[in-house]
Amino acid sequence: MSQPDTREFRDALGQFATGVTVMTTATEEGKPVGVTASSFNSVSLDPPLVLWSLAKSAASMRVYEKSGGFNVHILAAHQEEISNQFARPGDDKFRDIDWKPCDRGYPVLPEYAALFRCETKFQYEGGDHVIFVGKVMEYETRNSPVLVFHQGAYAELKSGTKAGGNL
Ligand SMILES: Cc1cc2nc3c(=O)[nH]c(=O)nc-3n(C[C@H](O)[C@H](O)[C@H](O)COP(=O)(O)O)c2cc1C
Repeated sequence: MSQPDTREFRDALGQFATGVTVMTTATEEGKPVGVTASSFNSVSLDPPLVLWSLAKSAASMRVYEKSGGFNVHILAAHQEEISNQFARPGDDKFRDIDWKPCDRGYPVLPEYAALFRCETKFQYEGGDHVIFVGKVMEYETRNSPVLVFHQGAYAELKSGTKAGGNL
């Protein structure tokens, strides 16, 4: 067994395949903010809670800490470029995207495999990240294949039998 040294630790964590999300929120002035995040996960069904974590070094950290909520877009398989666009630091992440504000003013992207509109319920200290737990107020799902991330690269989802049949 190895001690958690950074490079190898990252590689080991990368063995956990995830989906890819874009988390959006807005500044007090209504400026749209978004980041790509693969740290999304479900937490609770009742109440409906989800979580994700954001690096403390992220330029948008203060906005997520203050805004009171976020929209989770689970990306569809063809949205690799959107994932890259929101992973690049900079002010023009929403360029060429026909987004619309939800009733709380957070951007809703035109395309996604699923959307969860969340109110931030808890924020936890998580080392070099902050963990955000959101209560899902509304959601929508579309029947499209999803983008997968594994070992630092986008991957294809192998379609196959459903685990456990009825899970
Ligand atoms: C597939 C993928 C998943 C990512 N997941 C996360 C994540 O879960 N948390 C995080 O803080 N950064 C994650 N990043 C990096 C951020 O998207 C990136 O650092 C972004 O520029 C941060 O935005 P900001 O600095 O403009 O606020 C991920 C990047 C990619 C490409």
